[in-house]
Amino acid sequence: MTNEAIPVPEPKTGEARVKIEAIGLNFIDIYHRIGLYPLQTPFTLGMEGAGVVDAVGDGATEVKKGDRVAYAMIPGSYAEYAIVPAAKLAPVPANIDAKSAAALMLQGMTAHYLTHSTYALKQGDTALVHAAAGGVGLLLIQIAKTLGATVIGTVSTEAKAQLAKQAGADEVILYTQSDFLAEVKKITDGQGVHVVYDSVGATTFDKSLDCLRPRGYLVLFGQSSGPVQPLDPGKLAAKGSLFLTRPSLAHYTLTRAELLQRSSDLFNWTATGKLRLRIDKTFSMAEAAEAHRQLEGRKTTGKVVLFP
Ligand SMILES: NC(=O)c1ccc[n+]([C@@H]2O[C@H](COP(=O)([O-])OP(=O)(O)OC[C@H]3O[C@@H](n4cnc5c(N)ncnc54)[C@H](OP(=O)(O)O)[C@@H]3O)[C@@H](O)[C@H]2O)c1
Repeated sequence: MTNEAIPVPEPKTGEARVKIEAIGLNFIDIYHRIGLYPLQTPFTLGMEGAGVVDAVGDGATEVKKGDRVAYAMIPGSYAEYAIVPAAKLAPVPANIDAKSAAALMLQGMTAHYLTHSTYALKQGDTALVHAAAGGVGLLLIQIAKTLGATVIGTVSTEAKAQLAKQAGADEVILYTQSDFLAEVKKITDGQGVHVVYDSVGATTFDKSLDCLRPRGYLVLFGQSSGPVQPLDPGKLAAKGSLFLTRPSLAHYTLTRAELLQRSSDLFNWTATGKLRLRIDKTFSMAEAAEAHRQLEGRKTTGKVVLFP
């Protein structure tokens, strides 16, 4: 990772240029950096930002110069200026600062679609959330609780367990010290859970399947411990007619209406205190490598924000 000066980019048709004020750090930045999700090199890292529109291309009707905006899943946010399709920019209300906006878009909209769309939680459901004190994890717990679910979280340390509990988790398992499958069976009287939200992947996947009750949903949405091995679909039948899905935020913000619905829900919940955002650490762009080391090394909780 190097910092380089390049010309300020110009927006083309349908695009806007955003003067970036805050950048959200996400695990996908690590996948891009290490080549797990290959991008054409050279590229500018970063999939999330917030700032002010300072130029618009022809036909970019969704925003105008001076608008406060935020976005996710468009590459190139580790920069002072980014070019973004105007339709992918969400307006940021006056009561949300740029740091919070940059912190909410990617992990927040992920927690939103996982709980509302991929497996829509309802009263009486029990959900298992891995990496419960992470950026997505803390938001996911809070949203799941508002939908009436019982939430079991897994974390690696006692300090992270406290944070998951403060976010509303009913039970927290230290999966580095005890067998989370045995604990889940104990907590659910042997029934298993309705859904597992698994972003850890390699080290949790097999047991996550075994934590499900018949017809349960395994929502594999990341691989912070490494990719999952191929699976024989017959296993899903043998373990109880299970459902397996591997969703991506990009496919849950396909339309502008969907993007605006999810982002405005998050901004409203945050402004009214229904959702508490935890910004754990902030770094300058010059310290981006250290920020990556900490996220990769399980040293962060909640969100990490960079400033250009
Ligand atoms: N599919 C989507 O749409 C989508 C969108 C956003 C994020 N994601 C995924 O969601 C996950 C969480 O993203 P995030 O940005 O919020 O990160 P994060 O949860 O804040 O950080 C990752 C966490 O994973 C846990 N982990 C377990 N084993 C690990 C290992 N070997 N190496 C590193 N971490 C490990 C750690 O928590 P413990 O120390 O408690 O184990 C760590 O803090 C990532 O897998 C990401 O790819 C997916």
